[in-house]
Amino acid sequence: MNITFLLNGETVALQDAAPTQTLLDWLRETRGLTGTKEGCNEGDCGACTVLVTDKNGTRALNACILFLPQLHGRALRTVEGISGPDGALHPVQSAMIEHHGSQCGFCTPGFIASMAAAHLNCETDHDRTLAGNLCRCTGYAPIIRAAKAAEKAPVPGWMMQDRQMLNDPDFFLPEISSGGAKGRGADSPPSPLRPKTTDELACYYAQNPDAALIAGATDIGLWVTKGLRDIAKPVFLADCTDLQQININKDHIRIGAGVTMSRMHDLMRDHHPSYAAMIRRYGSEQVRNAATLGGNIANGSPIGDNPPALIALGATLHLRRGETQRAIPLEAFFLEYGKQDRAPGEFVEAVSIPRAPDRLRCYKLSKRFDQDISAVCGCFNITVEGGKVASARIAFGGMAGTPKHASHVEAALIGQDWGEATVRAAAPAWAQDFQPLSDMRASGGYRLSAARNMLMRYFLEDRGAGVCLHEVTA
Ligand SMILES: Cc1cc2nc3c(=O)[nH]c(=O)nc-3n(C[C@H](O)[C@H](O)[C@H](O)COP(=O)(O)OP(=O)(O)OC[C@H]3O[C@@H](n4cnc5c(N)ncnc54)[C@H](O)[C@@H]3O)c2cc1C
Ligand code: FES
Ligand code: FES
Repeated sequence: MNITFLLNGETVALQDAAPTQTLLDWLRETRGLTGTKEGCNEGDCGACTVLVTDKNGTRALNACILFLPQLHGRALRTVEGISGPDGALHPVQSAMIEHHGSQCGFCTPGFIASMAAAHLNCETDHDRTLAGNLCRCTGYAPIIRAAKAAEKAPVPGWMMQDRQMLNDPDFFLPEISSGGAKGRGADSPPSPLRPKTTDELACYYAQNPDAALIAGATDIGLWVTKGLRDIAKPVFLADCTDLQQININKDHIRIGAGVTMSRMHDLMRDHHPSYAAMIRRYGSEQVRNAATLGGNIANGSPIGDNPPALIALGATLHLRRGETQRAIPLEAFFLEYGKQDRAPGEFVEAVSIPRAPDRLRCYKLSKRFDQDISAVCGCFNITVEGGKVASARIAFGGMAGTPKHASHVEAALIGQDWGEATVRAAAPAWAQDFQPLSDMRASGGYRLSAARNMLMRYFLEDRGAGVCLHEVTA
């Protein structure tokens, strides 16, 4: 596969690159850029963080689960390119020295990359932007102090270069393209492995149902780095811009399958803030910048965080195979563990949710606040009219082999007074809906009682009681 991108300001054009070589391996083994470190090789530690810029801006990403074709037409900056061409330190580098933010230094390049991305984007919530970077010796206080100290320093000119280059067609196209036609996107011969539209994708995938669709690669990356699997026929969705659209009208919000978790967070902040707060705890900044909604649904995981929230919102899933499109309630997609209602050659095109006053609350329970998969994720959307429950949509992840509705609990609530007695009376219905398993994340008994308690929490929160542990002060 031919891949062209900017690396620390220089054009790189690769001919016949192995499509599932990870960026981390390529940087270290082929380019000798060993500043980017390998820690976990599965997206958890941030030692491999790099900056990737496209027309939507600059994001921190984990190089260990990023395949080279995902960089095509983009600008990459590694830790070697964060200091200036004349060796001048970036303000976050100077601040890390001043505030003693590094001991063994193994994690430091990844921290510097995350800090430089946040600095460029004027982001000052360092707990959030650094949650995906693991430090085992220095401790976070000096690192956070360094990030804060650098906040006001101007962005160095060389850090602006990538955006300027990508936005300058006179530079970008002649330099980075192998073609000659005007217009971004006319840069390389069309490749079915890198479709530019959903139509191209649909056509190729219907004829090649054995292909593997690669969106953010936060799952598939691990098939390669940990499962050592060969992906015989990869199709990269990163350039399918029409799959990344969000359309809002007065009745619905339609979210393309290629929308990342970071964009979902920003979207939901305006419509369903509790959903946004839950996404804030989805993986890390680096993971949210890559992972897509379509991947989180299509992988069929019983512990994916989006499906319960979307089912509680009454979402519709839009699927497409060739020219044939169909729409089903999202919950109907998950048939049983590991089995979804998806025909060969069919893919997730979008999800739509009805617009309605916000009644959604999402409760994610996991052992760590950040960067952890849910043990239980409960999402509640209950409307009340005249003191009685008018409608109830309750869905859970982590309670069964699929994301699942609590239909017996819903039935126990609908039409009843919205009061504590009703919530307590619904208690036996939980065991009719769920018989959760015990595993390393939680026991079945814990999961069931946590789910019951979440309904009480929803009720109390609705009454204005303080229920969030983060709000408790000594
Ligand atoms: C460190 C780390 C932390 C994580 N934390 C969380 C978390 O907190 N919560 C959570 O829910 N998940 C978490 N995940 C899991 C992962 O981020 C999600 O499952 C992710 O949403 C997958 O999306 P992707 O775009 O990366 O998919 P990919 O890895 O590209 O693909 C995943 C699967 O979906 C298929 N696919 C992708 N797009 C489509 C499409 N449009 N149509 C049909 N099939 C498609 C692929 O072929 C593949 O089978 C984490 C992962 C990592 C590595
Ligand atoms: S090496 Fe740990 S996130 Fe990449
Ligand atoms: S300084 Fe050693 S891991 Fe962070």
